Amino acid sequence: MSMVKTPSQIVRMREACAVAARVLQQVKELVRPGVTTQDLDEAGRDFMAALGARSADYGYQIGSRRYPAHTCISVNEEVVHGVPSFRRILRDGDIVSLDVTVTYNGFIGDNALTMPVGSISPRLEKLVSVTAAALDLGIKQARVGNRIGDISHAIQSHVESHGYSVVRDLIGHGVGEQMHEPPEVPNFGRRGSGPLIKAGMTLAIEPMVNLGGSRTKTLSDGWTVVTADRSPSAHFEHTVLTTDQGPEILTLPPT
Ligand code: MF3
Ligand code: CO
Ligand code: CO
Repeated sequence: MSMVKTPSQIVRMREACAVAARVLQQVKELVRPGVTTQDLDEAGRDFMAALGARSADYGYQIGSRRYPAHTCISVNEEVVHGVPSFRRILRDGDIVSLDVTVTYNGFIGDNALTMPVGSISPRLEKLVSVTAAALDLGIKQARVGNRIGDISHAIQSHVESHGYSVVRDLIGHGVGEQMHEPPEVPNFGRRGSGPLIKAGMTLAIEPMVNLGGSRTKTLSDGWTVVTADRSPSAHFEHTVLTTDQGPEILTLPPT
């Protein structure tokens, strides 16, 4: 299977990613103390429908389990795949990660961000800003002629230079007609290692960064991934197209 998209596939990836970015922005605007993660999920589902898209998460199968919601919303020590619930009320001082993955016209756009709920502590502010910067540095390495390990190394070294750890149990990925396609895009690795980056790849680059140790656990719901030491965690993700002119972020928020 080639990891390079055709021009017509790229046209449709652009459209799917633009929808994913718009929905993420719309859900982001609803975040405030008192809202439940289920409120956000239902809004996300409706925003997708209004744009002619649907959730790529809903019914997504891992083993015998099907994901039961339309978005992933992960609070504080939850790393990713937080299952929205009417019982989870966002509180002032929380950080919340919103991960929106849509299917539009047969193609998938995947993006995520972590944001404050109300006002947060300086140590959480810094965790969030270091994770966002790690994504930017990883994207800069998504250049034709580089290798995937150059992305991985840039992310890992930035994160660890601030004393945080990268999650190793989950990784970024190619994305296209399937949510998870080759190549794997780990957030740790060595410069110059891994698959060669060619023009026309669409990569979901997504550092997951823990304030404490790198280990994770999955809760008994079968989905929600938390830090093993219950330290807070942040996550940012963009779908990026590699071009001869450099990386192009397909999930940039609408202006
Ligand atoms: N959006 C996630 C990713 O970045 C995947 C979510 S799959 C789900 O790869 F089933 F948990 F929704
Ligand atoms: Co995602
Ligand atoms: Co992803």
